Amino acid sequence: MKSFYITTAIDYVNGSPHLGHAYEKVLTDVIARFRRMMGDRVHFLTGVDEHGQKVQASARKRGIAPQQYVDEISAEFRALLPRLNISNDDFIRTTEERHKKVVREVLQRLFAQGEIYKAEYKGFYSTRQEQFLQEKDRLPGGAWPEIFGEVTEITESNYFFKLRGYQDWLIEFLTKHEHFIFPSYRQKQVLEFLKEPLNDLCISRPRERLEWGIPLPFDEGYVTYVWFDALLNYYSAVADQPGVWPAAWHVIGKDILVPPHAVYWPIMLHAAGIPLPHGIIAHGWWLQSGAKMSKSTGNALNPLDLVAEFGVDAFRYFLIREMNVGQDSEFTREQFLVRYNSELANNLGNLVNRTLNMTTRFAGGVLPSAELSEEPEQELHALWAKTRDEFIPLCEGFQFHTALERAMQFVTATNAYIEKRAPWKLGKSAEPRDQALLRTSLATMAEALRLGVALIQHVTPATTAKINDVLGYVPGDAWRDELHWGQKLDGASVAAALVLFPRPAPAVPPKG
Ligand code: ME8
Ligand code: MG
Repeated sequence: MKSFYITTAIDYVNGSPHLGHAYEKVLTDVIARFRRMMGDRVHFLTGVDEHGQKVQASARKRGIAPQQYVDEISAEFRALLPRLNISNDDFIRTTEERHKKVVREVLQRLFAQGEIYKAEYKGFYSTRQEQFLQEKDRLPGGAWPEIFGEVTEITESNYFFKLRGYQDWLIEFLTKHEHFIFPSYRQKQVLEFLKEPLNDLCISRPRERLEWGIPLPFDEGYVTYVWFDALLNYYSAVADQPGVWPAAWHVIGKDILVPPHAVYWPIMLHAAGIPLPHGIIAHGWWLQSGAKMSKSTGNALNPLDLVAEFGVDAFRYFLIREMNVGQDSEFTREQFLVRYNSELANNLGNLVNRTLNMTTRFAGGVLPSAELSEEPEQELHALWAKTRDEFIPLCEGFQFHTALERAMQFVTATNAYIEKRAPWKLGKSAEPRDQALLRTSLATMAEALRLGVALIQHVTPATTAKINDVLGYVPGDAWRDELHWGQKLDGASVAAALVLFPRPAPAVPPKG
């Protein structure tokens, strides 16, 4: 069995989770479920980033101790996971001892190796991004880009990690490992960034200014810079589990690719003598009216409201169907409703209803065998073969939106097949050929439905399970073996009805 370790970014607990956080969990879950379907031994980690200035400031604002504050908000992030049907194996908090221990060990090792030195630091810092800024980060007019929030200038004695000495190594590594970062155009941006000389990384904050962090093992007067602490979660969570590291893929948003994940992280690992992960997947942003949805700007959407209104699978379906991994997407309720109605209710829901209704009406609820294979059947078989063959490579390449589109095109074609065969007409005829065609069409639509829902299982696991259930079908353990057109439903007893995607209540008209 191949080992496959997948992680999400760990969220800052400085506010409630929003749609962007939910998306990252769902995307990572879709990858994890897909790899399990492919037979890999998957380990899926998610968690929270609990240290740093930003979290300390949020706790102060509430007038409570940082620990109490992070306990509260982290519980909220954790509670989101089952509501989104996330299949994570572990959840890490950076305040846990298992994590702090590894951070201290790595720091101590790098310090002993002479990779860390003390010097005076003078420069600009963005608390919102918990990031040191450079002159080149400024906009042409001299202002700082909005994503950095408030920027302050600091001057103090600090510890530095010798990042610069690894610049050539990193360029060589990325040149050799062309597919380290997905999408590949992001890898090119990293190489572009590396054309400018790197500065050494300030990895400490004096305790008088920031208490809320992991004390440096070699100087208790300082705590660890939050990114140096946070990145290590991917490793600390599995350091004592054999066979997991380094088969890792990190799913993150594009805002934290350069420099933290694409520059600091590989260099930290390499310098500490730890093998590098397999790759990084950088997704885009959910926008509202063109702006990044974010905790700090207050344009965030609560994912749980959508889950409550439309169900978890409709929510997961929309996020994965709408977003091309790597690019940004505008979130609008209108677009959500368009996909919900046309793809889920009218297409998939309709196929389920027709299959159950007609099997009940014309065959006493027991699926007959397909006796004939004429042009309409052969066309659908051929489309299935093509859909299935293209599906796996699409998912392996993280093209989940296209894979879903293909699966839905197959469902559309199955509905068109039903129109063509018109079982409701065949049902009125006593002709033996019409009766054979009726049995064939019932068997064909049910088998096509079974196959179609096998292709959306990683995105809508509960819906797939429900549909298999009403078809009287128990899938085998090996997902790939399920993808053969095999009349697996002959003789199965189906349920009379299943309401999957009820029509949403019409929007409340504006007052006045
Ligand atoms: O950056 N659309 O935490 P975070 C899509 N603690 N994704 C979004 C998003 C949006 N509108 N807003 C945020 C941090 N995200 C660090 C990570 S990892 C060692 C430390 C994504 O709470 C964002 O890109 O600001 C990131 O991947 C994740 O949510 C957590 O963001
Ligand atoms: Mg952020």
